[in-house]
Amino acid sequence: MGLKITSDRGARDVLDAIMPSDIQLYPGEWQMHSQWYRSFVVIAYPREVKPGWFEPLLRFPRPITLSVYSGPIPNDAVMGTMQRSLLWHLGTIEANQASGRLIDPLQRTAVEDTERMREGIARGETRLIDTALTLTVSASTKPELDESSNLLLSLASGMLLVIRRLYFQPEVGLKRLLPVFGEPAHPREMDTGAWATLFPYAAQELIHPEGQVFGTNGASHSLVIVDRYTLPSPHSITVAWSGAGKSFQAKLEILRSRYRGIPVKVLDPEGEYRVLEAAGAKVWAVGDPSGAGFPWDPFAIESDANPEEVERQTDFLVQFIRRLDPEVPDLIHAVEQALWRLVKLRGTPSLIFHREPNRLCDDTMLIAMVNRINKTLGERLESIVQRWRLMAPQTTAPGQDFEVYDISRLTQRMKAAAYLALTEHIARTVDRARRQLVVFDEAWQLLTDETTARYLESLFRRARKWGTALSLITQDIGDFTRSRSAEVCLRNAPLILLLRQHPESLEEVTRLLRLHQGEVDLLMTAQRGEGLLIVGDDHVPLRVGASPYEAKLIAGQPLQNSV
Ligand SMILES: Nc1ncnc2c1ncn2[C@@H]1O[C@H](COP(=O)(O)OP(=O)(O)OP(=O)(O)O)[C@@H](O)[C@H]1O
Ligand SMILES: [Mg+2]
Repeated sequence: MGLKITSDRGARDVLDAIMPSDIQLYPGEWQMHSQWYRSFVVIAYPREVKPGWFEPLLRFPRPITLSVYSGPIPNDAVMGTMQRSLLWHLGTIEANQASGRLIDPLQRTAVEDTERMREGIARGETRLIDTALTLTVSASTKPELDESSNLLLSLASGMLLVIRRLYFQPEVGLKRLLPVFGEPAHPREMDTGAWATLFPYAAQELIHPEGQVFGTNGASHSLVIVDRYTLPSPHSITVAWSGAGKSFQAKLEILRSRYRGIPVKVLDPEGEYRVLEAAGAKVWAVGDPSGAGFPWDPFAIESDANPEEVERQTDFLVQFIRRLDPEVPDLIHAVEQALWRLVKLRGTPSLIFHREPNRLCDDTMLIAMVNRINKTLGERLESIVQRWRLMAPQTTAPGQDFEVYDISRLTQRMKAAAYLALTEHIARTVDRARRQLVVFDEAWQLLTDETTARYLESLFRRARKWGTALSLITQDIGDFTRSRSAEVCLRNAPLILLLRQHPESLEEVTRLLRLHQGEVDLLMTAQRGEGLLIVGDDHVPLRVGASPYEAKLIAGQPLQNSV
């Protein structure tokens, strides 16, 4: 039976008002408001700790209160005590040596630790702090309290923390829950580095006021909220092993961007983003005979563009045709020559019979010009153009705020060309007055080829000025080191998401992004949807999670009655 303290005086002052009406003290625990409490004190700590070592206790899965007492110790007092302790340890070691006994490794460790600390204190790099840690578990029943206590004991022993239950002094535990408790009886001295690891605020938090949720912080469980448009450049890169959850995260970001009314365009080589139709996306099923066709004509160069733009569009057309037919270099030379005549010299009426007034070039004009240069090459170009037109007939449709270009039905060669053409289409139709998100899934399609990577690099530079955010998703960090241009893209993306990595790429990721060992371990063992988010200089462990509604939508399940 415990001691029962009750208050029936009625509330006369503030203390009375906050004082519980009933506390029962037992030898090893106490009960307050029908809740049970049991306190433990830490009597020994691991010899060395590193940031994050205290994390398991901060994440204890049951109700627990950690009370930390801290009191700085004057340096003079510390130096005196340390000197005495050092002399005592050195004396013992010498005496042991003189009598031929083995040196106690504990003594040697104590000497090393003391010397290291004395030096730190003398240099002003650290100071010692009296620290006492009390852990109080609570539960609504005694058996639950016992369970929590056992869990705490086994967790603490795993962390090399020696803890003891406060027997016959439950009131000490009770008082330590309150900030009024004075100096505890046996505090331990810690240097500032070790002491700092006890505090959860040491965990990195990433919360931009106007941002959107990227997931939860793997260490502190708080939300990770990022506004990519407030960064020096809004572009991002996602690199992870197959199946790690890249596309899932991209779909979540797209949905959450749409909640904020941000226009989104997606280049989808695998046909995975079709599910977004349920969220209002217009899906272009390129290559599907019953589909909507292709949103623009890649062979056209408009005459109202300024000279610099005309030159860029000409470059694009050459790259596009190279992707459609990479096997005949002569054809590319002929196309370059033909374009030069058409665009630079603006053609000659005798050669071009049916020039549209607003076009410098289209497929008929180009074929006619190449025919003039070389008939065989002209015929080859004609057949290429026909093949393209068959697979991707041009359809004019008004631009929408949310579009998915599904090119999964095309052959690999056609897909590569369509990928490039869609990139160009997005660049030409972008609304420069509004923020926009453009997702390039399987971005290796552009990164692995030197010339198209250069094209992407220039898009990166231009898009930043328009407030358009490009999100490149790929499996291999090596895609960003294959060319200088791809590397420029990597360096100009302040937002980098790394999910689980292929063991072989991990070394390169570590080197390129200067990760530390803890981060490497995280990327090696991460579960699906877990990883590291790098925003500028901040590195945050991220866990990507969807709401049940979002998860259903992404999985393509029916959404009725699920909101
Ligand atoms: N955070 C998550 N929560 C729940 N399910 C997830 C999560 N991340 C991924 N998944 C599921 O795991 C599977 C693989 O994910 P996803 O397609 O995003 O991988 P990926 O990294 O894009 O792979 P690949 O490189 O092959 O395209 C999908 O079925 C997806 O729904
Ligand atoms: Mg994917």
